[in-house]
Amino acid sequence: MSTLWHGRFESGPAEELMAFTVSLPFDQRLASDDIAGSRAHVRGLCRAGILTEAERDSVLAALDTVESELAQGTFVFVASDEDIHTSVERRVTELAGAAGAKLHTGRSRNDQVATDLRLFTKRELGAIASRIVVFQETLLDRARTAGDAYLPGYTHLQRAQPVLLAHHLLAHGWALSRDLDRLHSTIDRLDISPLGAGALAGSSLPLDPAGTAADLGFAGVFANSLDAVSDRDFVAEALFDLALIGVHLSRLAEEIILWSTDEFGFLRLDDAYSTGSSMLPQKKNPDIAELTRGKTGRLIGNLTGLLAMLKGLPLAYNRDLQEDKEPLFDSLDTVSLALAAMTGLLGSSIFNLAAMSEAADAPTSAATDLAEHLVATGVPFRDAHAIVGALVRKSLDEGIALRDLVGASDDLGESALHLLDWGVAVQRRTTPGGAGPAAVAPQLEAFAQQLVAAKERIGA
Ligand code: ARG
Repeated sequence: MSTLWHGRFESGPAEELMAFTVSLPFDQRLASDDIAGSRAHVRGLCRAGILTEAERDSVLAALDTVESELAQGTFVFVASDEDIHTSVERRVTELAGAAGAKLHTGRSRNDQVATDLRLFTKRELGAIASRIVVFQETLLDRARTAGDAYLPGYTHLQRAQPVLLAHHLLAHGWALSRDLDRLHSTIDRLDISPLGAGALAGSSLPLDPAGTAADLGFAGVFANSLDAVSDRDFVAEALFDLALIGVHLSRLAEEIILWSTDEFGFLRLDDAYSTGSSMLPQKKNPDIAELTRGKTGRLIGNLTGLLAMLKGLPLAYNRDLQEDKEPLFDSLDTVSLALAAMTGLLGSSIFNLAAMSEAADAPTSAATDLAEHLVATGVPFRDAHAIVGALVRKSLDEGIALRDLVGASDDLGESALHLLDWGVAVQRRTTPGGAGPAAVAPQLEAFAQQLVAAKERIGA
């Protein structure tokens, strides 16, 4: 078996070594980025006068062939291909002969793999950002069509104060906007080319890292070759961003699960986005939401696994770093699928607005409004809280309607009764950023505007 290092070794690699160390089964996914990196490197070698134009063109032609063989599924991998970098270089050398054997001049797989992974991560995080925007558009659409529909807002999962459904949906939307910002800032920070760092220390050859960086569309170039080959901060950041997106989706998923129970009855799932039971004929299960919640455990695990892998590594490259790819690929795939599935789930679910408002109009939902009504007449809030609290307790203890107690109260009386009318409490949440219609209207506008800006940014 011919390895990339056969010159130095008397014998070939053991079968167990290859079985344990190969990364080809998963890093094939970097093929197009590896080819892009090799094209830029070869052009750089030619500009540096290390390859003739004819040699450059023959290597570029071989890279084109490799690309189309991979695309058509006719590329033949061999047993000594321990990773995608080896496969591509081996095939280029088969095709371009001596010129092909010059491809790896001044380059190491250490700067090569870091380059590939940055190109890959930049693109894939961009794709996740696009999926988030699509999901946010669904949220915005559902928020807009919800109009003035309202439901109980909860603290401690106990009914607290009514809120517009639009307000509740947009709360999830804003969390995703922060996710989008985080993705963009991760992309901005990772947009640095490591190509030219070599194995760890640069090169004696007249390479121009800035030239290959520009060729590859990177915004900048490494300042320190040791850092360039050993830095996986961008993978950690990407895994954190993806884990937090998962956490956000999981919190929404949890609400969808609760809302679709008979106990809540706020939401009916569409047939196409729910599953049945093999035994219980009546069942309609929220499996998308449950798997979104469940898979978030993996996303968090991928992040902590990567950080644990990195923590003991001395500079510069260590083979441990090969363990960066599987968690990254897994988290990207998981979040991508979860976003698509949750977009479909949310877009197709039917809200039971009557059940929501009925739950929100329980008289105790207006307790704070009763207290604030007293505050408006000069009663200190602490006293107002105690007065209303005592009425609520009496209502519960003695089974008397709160309305009757309020009407008969010396502190509140008839003039406060309108606060208990259906739909009044939510109207009164008027402060900026609040949960009532007057405050939610500008919020909807603001959310729509930042979504337009987000779309432009992704298009750019
Ligand atoms: N497959 C390796 C990785 O993913 C490529 C770099 C190997 N470099 C080395 N010196 N063994 O990290």
